[in-house]
Order: sequence, then C-alpha cells, then structure tokens
Amino acid sequence: MKTTAQIRQAYLDFFHSKGHTVVESSSLVPENDPTLLFTNAGMNQFKDVFLGMEKRPYTRATTAQRCVRAGGKHNDLENVGYTARHHTFFEMMGNFSFGDYFKHDAIQFAWEFLTSSQWLGLPKEKLYVTVYETDDEAYDIWNNVVGVPAEHIIRIGDNKGAPYASDNFWAMGDTGPCGPCTEIFYDHGDHIWGGLPGSPEEDGDRYIEVWNIVFMQFNRLPDGTMEKLPKPSVDTGMGLERMTAVLQHVNSNYEIDIFQTLIKKVAEVVGTQDLGNKSLRVIADHIRSCAYLIADGVIPSNEGRGYVLRRIIRRAVRHGHLLGAKETFFYKLVPTLIEVMAAAGKQVKEKQANVEKLLRLEEEQFARTLERGLALLDEALANVKNGVLSGDVAFKLYDTYGFPLDLTADVCRERNINIDEEGFEREMEAQRLRAQAASNFGVDYSSVIRVDGETKFEGYTHDESLAKVTALFYDGKSVETITAGQSAVVVLENTPFYAEMGGQIGDSGVLTANGVQFEVKDTQKYGFVFGHVGELEQGTLSVGQIVNATVNHERRQQTRLNHSATHLLHAALRQVLGEHVAQKGSLVADTGLRFDFVQPEAVSKEQIAEIERLVNFHVRANHPVLTEEMGVEEAKAKGAMALFGEKYGDVVRVVTMSPFSIELCGGLHVERTGEIGLFKIISESAVAAGIRRIEAVTGEGAMNWLFNQQAILAQSAELLKSDVPSLPEKIVQLQDKAKKTEKELEQLKAKAAQAAGSNLAQSAVKIGEVSVIVHQLDGVDAKALRVMVDDLKNQLGSGVVALGSVAEDKVNLIVGVTADLTSKVKAGELVNVMAQQVGGKGGGRPDMAMAGGSQPENVSVALNAASDWLKANL
Ligand code: SER
Repeated sequence: MKTTAQIRQAYLDFFHSKGHTVVESSSLVPENDPTLLFTNAGMNQFKDVFLGMEKRPYTRATTAQRCVRAGGKHNDLENVGYTARHHTFFEMMGNFSFGDYFKHDAIQFAWEFLTSSQWLGLPKEKLYVTVYETDDEAYDIWNNVVGVPAEHIIRIGDNKGAPYASDNFWAMGDTGPCGPCTEIFYDHGDHIWGGLPGSPEEDGDRYIEVWNIVFMQFNRLPDGTMEKLPKPSVDTGMGLERMTAVLQHVNSNYEIDIFQTLIKKVAEVVGTQDLGNKSLRVIADHIRSCAYLIADGVIPSNEGRGYVLRRIIRRAVRHGHLLGAKETFFYKLVPTLIEVMAAAGKQVKEKQANVEKLLRLEEEQFARTLERGLALLDEALANVKNGVLSGDVAFKLYDTYGFPLDLTADVCRERNINIDEEGFEREMEAQRLRAQAASNFGVDYSSVIRVDGETKFEGYTHDESLAKVTALFYDGKSVETITAGQSAVVVLENTPFYAEMGGQIGDSGVLTANGVQFEVKDTQKYGFVFGHVGELEQGTLSVGQIVNATVNHERRQQTRLNHSATHLLHAALRQVLGEHVAQKGSLVADTGLRFDFVQPEAVSKEQIAEIERLVNFHVRANHPVLTEEMGVEEAKAKGAMALFGEKYGDVVRVVTMSPFSIELCGGLHVERTGEIGLFKIISESAVAAGIRRIEAVTGEGAMNWLFNQQAILAQSAELLKSDVPSLPEKIVQLQDKAKKTEKELEQLKAKAAQAAGSNLAQSAVKIGEVSVIVHQLDGVDAKALRVMVDDLKNQLGSGVVALGSVAEDKVNLIVGVTADLTSKVKAGELVNVMAQQVGGKGGGRPDMAMAGGSQPENVSVALNAASDWLKANL
C-alpha cells in the first residue's frame, strides 16, 4: 500500500522525469494578491506567469501546494468533518506548463502517471473523463490518442447558468487566468451510491474527481471580457488526499493513513475510546489548517485571516469539549501532525514552538467562556419556536463569549436549527458604530478586550475595595505587566468603580499598592468585566497583583446628584409637558446632566420655570431614594418607567423617589433627594426634529452657576454705576441716549458733507468747453449726495458732476448734468459706466442718475472711468 507521503513524492518524481522543475509550495498567505484570502490552488503562485507579467527560468513546474479553503462570508466550515471530502486544509499536487506543452502532453502525462504500473497503476476501466462541451480537440485526444472509449467520455457544457459557468471551465476567481478543463473521475464501485458527472446522481460518492487539467487560455477582466492569454498554458490539480483514498481502497479521505494516525492521537489527548465519533475528524482536519496558518504567519485575531484562524481553532476546541476533553489539548497534536506530513511537515517543524504556544493560548483563553456560552446557547435553543435562532442571541454569544457565528451554526446544525444571519449582521454593524463612538485614549479596546470571568461590582455600597488585577491591556494588546508612564486598561476581579452605563459616566480615581500608583481616568465595561482606563504613574503593575481601588469620591458624589435629578426631571417633564415625553438619550456627569426627549415644539420659558419649580419641590421634600431588585412584571405593576425598546434581564433594579418618580435604573443615586440641594436648567434647545435637549446643573454645580450669574450682574451694575434692581431701567435709559446720539451724529455728517461739497465747485476742470467735477467723498449717504449734486449744478450753472462715496461698506455713485448739456451727456449712461466698475447698476433721469455698488475698493477706478468717458464724449 502506498502512503500519502509516497504518493506525494511519486507525483513530483514523475513530473521531474518529464522535464518539470520541482518548486516549493508557496505560503498560505498569498503574496501580492488582494483578491485572495488564502492560497486555494496550486496555480496561485504562478498567476502572473500565466498572465505574461512574470518570467521564470523554467517553462514546466511541479508542486505539492498547501491550500486552505475556509473563510469568506459564506463558507461551509460547519460541514467539515461530517462529509467524506470537505477539508479546511488540503494538498494539491500540480504540474504546470507556461506556454510550453498544451493539451496533448497534459492529457498523456496524466494518463501515464495514473495508469502505468510503474507509477500509480490504476485500472483504466475505473476511470472516466469529462471535457468542456465544445472542446473537440480534448475529446479527440482522449478518444483517439489515449484510447479512452466514448462511453467513458462525457461532455459538460455551461451547467451553472451563465456563459463559461461550468464544471468544465475553471477560473481562479471572478477575474484572472481561466480556461476550459478536462477532469478525470475514479469509480469507487457500485457498493457506493452515486452517478456519473452530468447525471442526476453526480453528487454521490461513487465517482470522485481526482484530476483536473485546466487549459489556461484567457484572462477574465472585471467587466467580464475574456482576454486571450499571451501563450496557452496548462494548470493541473490532483487532490492528494482523494488520490490517496483511491490507492488505499477507502472512500472517505478521513480513512487514509495520515488522518487515521491523527484521529487516534486526538482520541488519546482528549481521552475517548469512541474512534467513530465525527468530532475526532473535525479536530484532525482543523489541526492541519491551524498549524500551517500559524506557521505561515497568521495570528488568531478578530479580523481578516486571523479571524478565520480563530474560528477554526474555537470550533476544534468546542468539539474537544464535546468529546470530554478535560484540559488544553489542541496544541498536543502538533508533533503527530509534523510526523504524518513527512516532507511537507517541514514548515510547521521550523515554527513548532510558536505554533504550539499560540494554539495553547488561544484555547486557554476561549475555554474560560466556552461553558458559559454553551449553557446560554442551550437555553436559547430549548426556547426556539420556528426553527430559527435569533440574531441577538448569536450576536451575544459572539460578543460576550467569543463564539464565531459558524461555531454557533455548528451547534445549531446538530439540532436542525437555523440562525437569523441578517439579524446577526445588523447587531454587528450597530456594534461597530458604538465602538467607533466609544474609542478613547487613542486605542479602541472594545474589540480587543475579551476577558473571561466577571468583575464583581461593589460600588453601590463602597467607594474603596481591595481587588486583584485579572488582566492588563497596553497598546491594544493583552500584557502581563505595565510600567510607569504607560496608558493602559486594568481589569479587576472586583471593583467599587462604576463603569459607564445608562448615560452615567464611568468613575475616576486611583489604584494603589506598595510603590504603585495608577490613575484611573475612566471606567468602561467590556463584556462582563470592568476596565479601568488610565495611566500608571509610579511602579510596575502585573496581573495577579492586589491593589487598593479608590474612587474619586467628590466626582462620584456630584454624579450621583445629577443622576437622581435626571429621574426627577424626567418625571417633571411628563407632568408639565405630557405623557408623550420619552427619553431619547441622557448623559449624567459630575459637571451636569443632559436629557434628550421627544417633544414636538420648544419648551416655553414658563414651562421651564414650572419644571424647575417642580423638581426643586421634590428636592426639598427630601424623599428617601429606594433601590430594590424585583421581577420585571412586578416593576411594571409598580408603574416603573422603562426605556421603550430596551431589553432587561429577569431581575431589574428599581429606583423610587416617592410615588413621583419610579424608574428602572442600574446607576448610582443619592440617599435622599434633599442632597441634590438645588436644580437649575441652564439651556433648552433642539437636537433633531421633534427632539429637545435640556441641560441642567445640581448641588454645588447649580450654586456655582448662580454665583457666576450673580457676579455678572454685579459687574454690570458696577459698570453702569447702578445697582442690580435698577439695571433694566438703566439699560433702557442708555439705549435711548445712544439712539439720540446716533441721530445727531448723522445730521452732523450730512452738514459736514454739504460743507465739503460746497468747496468742490472750485475743483471743477474743463474738458473741452465743459466744466466737470469728478470726486470721491466718503461717509456720505445717498440722500446727502443728491443735495450736494443739486447744489454743485447750481454753482456751476453749466457742467457735469460725478461723485462716488463709500458709506458703511456700500458704494453710492451719482451723476448730475445741467439741462443745457443733457443732449451731450446722459446722466444715466455715465453712471452706468461707473457702476460697472464697482459691481453695480444704476439709472435715473438724463440730468440726475444714481447707482449702487458692492466693491468699495474700486470707487477710484469708477471715477477714472467717468473721466475717460467724458474725455471721449465731450
Ligand atoms: N486550478 C485547478 C484546480 O484548482 C487545477 O489545478 O482545480
């Protein structure tokens, strides 16, 4: 019997003997090919050679290429292990001609290797071939040259619904090299169900494709055009595992030597005797892709290739759990893998330590949440009604427990349940937007921080606790230790710090230990854990260390006041404006509060005053603030306000301040409303159509706001040499006085202009026989100009006057012509010549015309234009 390793070697040796250069498998991470997630065929590394864009020192090559087919949005990871031939990882044997041999040799090489007793020695009568429907040349070679009988040759056309969409037309992707192909099938025998290619039973397991020769002839362009390749070439693929199954007389790939060895090893490391269990196959398959992906540089992560790897590892770990694995097991398969892969095991062997370490860490990290996630899923599945698991549950499993969607699908598949994938995608998108909005301190930790376990919140009763550090994040990564000067996130086992939630800001404060001081600037929740975001100011801090966690009491106290006041405001708004007021958003900080709510029109001054009075009435009433946990139904019966559309757990926290305000809330509150001291609205505005925003301050904040207002008033009174009560009267007096002064000033200006105008008569010049005055006079309005022109005309007796003036950034132009000259000079015409220079237009009588303009800087240009025009026309 031939082993997988021997078959791999035989293939390479055969093609070497036919003049092919043996080329190393390329990495699973394709070089310079953004169209491809992972190397998925032997020809990938030769893509540019086929396209004529790269030259190699050989025209014939042969490889044993490692391939991964997993990932993408719709992949069938959940089928792997359950069928005979689905794998995440496989090896493809290939022989390639780059403009060297074509159909004849490619077909004859294949036949010789498969049937010659010197090589694989397969019985000819067990082999069938397919050709592309119109490929008469390939048909003829098989039939007449090789001697395959016509009943063993099948023509396959475009059977996938579009031109060139056929089982016998191979393309690497939507674009790139492609061409018609011819495939060879092996008949596993009539004890296995299935039919010939093209028959209705072709999907059965009897006739299995073992060889594919692609006649590379075209390059498909993004618009669908088929461009001819510079030289027709050949790309052959032979699935190594399938061929081994044929030669080892088994039907399923999982029964070949390498898988049998791996499966036994899996059973040993997880501690099971049940060798027929499908989960063993899943793990045996997955260790191959995971180990090789890591060896090729992929690291488990939350995006791209790293995420596909993470999904596969987590699926393997889940199946180990199904088999009863008690401890970390997956990495223990690596030595056996290296051994069974023989020559092809080299890549993993070189990176063995790293591969094992990453697998172990990833498994450990996931194992911590696996059981809790599975319990949640179990419960959700028990309640599924119409055979579909909701997108929210799938998302929660993903977000909180790190369950990739296909892992959830894998569990669902065992119970014939589907997932609402669209619902899941919607939640994902919403999450992405939240993460964008929440990223602070430069690094967005929201997708990085996935710590298992739960932080116990002690802040309802404590401002200070001793707590153990359970995880540290620095520079976007999980670390063991942080040092002074680093901005980081500290996760604690228990904490008095409130993490931002329900509109209330996260607490700040300090974490201290001997020689260690970490300043907490903000606290955020990541899944079930609380991250203390800030900077290590002194010492070093490591996971496992105990710290004294102390909340900034002042800041928290002010925040509490604002939170309780927000509840009173909400209740008051409903009482004053009506029951339609629904909360749309809220921010509760130490400095004040902001509350957005549904309200069609602006809240009037009187309503604002009423709301303030009502809230302050309940502040002075000094109601005790009760917080109780109870069932949702009980809370509703009590009349508690809850946010429409929000989801709550079975047990909710209800905050009550007399019957006036009863609301569901997880935030921090005062003990009695009197602590709020004073409530003051400082602004009311619109945020969107139908949504208003109120900003308010409380306690010392409100006092400070009032003090500040008072100071402004006092200062104003001082400036006006008055007292505060007389300020309005004083202001009215001042306004009257200012108006009067302005009027007087205008009159004076007009007088001054007239005076200036009367002197202008002396500046008249002669153009031809005509007396002309062209002049700029600023600060004179249109009315005064008119008076002035009339005056000048009188003084001249006969002549033309053109004036320009800039007043308050506007241009006024005026032209006056004495009656005796209007046949020569039309005032309207001249003023228009001027107006064009200052961006304006004008008009009027032949003896008097005016114009405006918007370019004060060009008044002198306009006056020059007037002189020129007069010189030309008089
Ligand atoms: N590229 C073809 C395939 O993947 C032949 O190697 O099947």
